[in-house]
Amino acid sequence: MNGTVNILGIETSCDETAAAVVVDGRVVRSSVVASQVKLHEKYGGVVPEIASRAHLEKIYPVINEAIEQAQISADDIDAVAVACQPGLTVALIVGVTAAKTLSLFWEKPLIAIDHLHAHLQSAVMAEENVQLPAVALIVSGGHTSLYDYRSPLEPKLLGSTIDDAAGEAFDKVATILKLPYPGGPSIEKTAQKGRPDAIEFPRSLLGKGSLDFSFSGIKTAVLYYCRGQDMKGRDRVAAMTQKQIADIAASFQTAVVDVLVEKTRRAAELIGAKTVLLGGGVAANSCLRKSLQQMCDSARPARKLLIAPKQYCTDNAVMVASLAYHKFKAELFTDLMLEPCAHSR
Ligand code: KG4
Ligand code: ZN
Repeated sequence: MNGTVNILGIETSCDETAAAVVVDGRVVRSSVVASQVKLHEKYGGVVPEIASRAHLEKIYPVINEAIEQAQISADDIDAVAVACQPGLTVALIVGVTAAKTLSLFWEKPLIAIDHLHAHLQSAVMAEENVQLPAVALIVSGGHTSLYDYRSPLEPKLLGSTIDDAAGEAFDKVATILKLPYPGGPSIEKTAQKGRPDAIEFPRSLLGKGSLDFSFSGIKTAVLYYCRGQDMKGRDRVAAMTQKQIADIAASFQTAVVDVLVEKTRRAAELIGAKTVLLGGGVAANSCLRKSLQQMCDSARPARKLLIAPKQYCTDNAVMVASLAYHKFKAELFTDLMLEPCAHSR
């Protein structure tokens, strides 16, 4: 394996326990993801304590499987990388502790990775030559952020949500509409049978130059639409036809997508972006993909849109190991004092 760099990536920031081995930041030797969706389903959202316990049970089996599938031995691994921020601290700590232990035991360098920067990496990973500067939109269950991207190591935050994340809004609206968890895919599926212009839900743009997002207003608007302004009316959802529910889902999805695309367009214009990057769980949404593509095509000159492959939109460890390669080359290692952090530092 001369000249190649094998990195073991570990990801436990929310509700997936994941490990992967990636060669030279691009070649995926293995990717294992243990999803906890079933455990959190009945609560309609991720319960931190349940997530933490499940990570603890799965972390070593998942890491072992990733190493086995990669058909390499611990000796062949050049570094251990772990997502240490942002996320649920009780969840992150499981991955961070496992990574520190392996780094110490195997005597391999430890690399600390920002989970959101890793999401961003999943959009550029397969591309040989990304035209810079790029604007990156990361939309997940916990985050909605725009970055000025000029290098994998130093994306600069341009704006983020001041309340709910886009994925969180999808999840909460799905709960209001009594659709299965996780909400994003359910809303997308239901919306296919509805009219996107059926209901005019608010699009919060937060002032002319703002690159921040706010999705709590639209969530409340859906709630009022279903329950009445004073919330005293009976929950109408149970009595609604499938068509009515589909119209709400389609109108909500379009309103969220409109805001995401408009803010990305603003950011792209501001920095003169040649490329737009899209990553995070909500990047799996086809309505968002299509609208962003139209925005990029209609710009003069047109912008190139790079979207993370679907299997790497939601949380995974390939993106962690891939980004770690750049830190490895720059010798940006961390030590055993590494602590998880709920926010990006
Ligand atoms: O990136 P991710 O796996 O976890 C976080 O880091 O938060 O994103 C999960 C989020 C959930 O809120 C889920 O509902 C949303 O991504 N999501 C979608 C779709 N697939 C997943 N949202 C809209 N449309 C989808 N197709
Ligand atoms: Zn994520």
